[in-house]
Amino acid sequence: MKSERVIVALDVPDWEGATKLVEMLPGVTFWKVGLQLFVAEGGDILKYLKDKGKRVFLDLKFHDIPNTVRGAILSALSYQVDLLTVHAAAGREALKAAQEAVKNSTFAPKLLAITVLTSLDASQLASDLKIPLPPPEYALHNALMAKECGLDGVVVSPQEVRRIKQACGKDFLTVCPGVRPQWATMGDQKRVMTPKQALAEGADYLVIGRPITHAHNPPLAWEKLLAEVTEPP
Ligand code: C5P
Repeated sequence: MKSERVIVALDVPDWEGATKLVEMLPGVTFWKVGLQLFVAEGGDILKYLKDKGKRVFLDLKFHDIPNTVRGAILSALSYQVDLLTVHAAAGREALKAAQEAVKNSTFAPKLLAITVLTSLDASQLASDLKIPLPPPEYALHNALMAKECGLDGVVVSPQEVRRIKQACGKDFLTVCPGVRPQWATMGDQKRVMTPKQALAEGADYLVIGRPITHAHNPPLAWEKLLAEVTEPP
């Protein structure tokens, strides 16, 4: 069922805004909690979502020294979420520390590496971060490193999915933000595709936030999105 492959990013400031959206969108089965909401509300919001039977992607993009990443993952495991993220830019040792922490736990979420933020384009990668590789090459490098460290998959732009699946295997999960239906604005996202294109490229999950959550009518936007991903090619 394609709706279960759409993860909606609950990027709102507080409990009230979050619970309002969750009640308004009962058809959404998979929610992503990121830095904004987690910093504001902590684990209570994760418990609220789990108690409602939702799947939860806790996207805190850990980027720190290996010991701190290991500790953060161990703390996050207590929330029993379904997906967790660590930043590939933290390096191989941090990825391994994260993976070992997950591997030794009784409740094991899928662990994903952030490859390249979908808001960064080639010129920003080169000029701000001094990374000379084009985004697809850098994302592929990070995906291969994550695979070697035993992670379950990556967060990548839909534009990079096909090559990553070819290189890392079809079971290596690809979770894609940077998804924009034709009727939505880009915001700060740069390396984007439509939901339908992203699924055709082989994305396992789509992450979509503002086109739904900041829509004038979120239930209508959700219905439009579902119609778009389920219509025959
Ligand atoms: O509102 P929008 O659809 O742009 O939301 C995308 C979500 O995916 C945000 O929560 C953002 O933090 C997250 N994300 C991203 N790019 C990545 C990893 C995560 O946009 N590489």
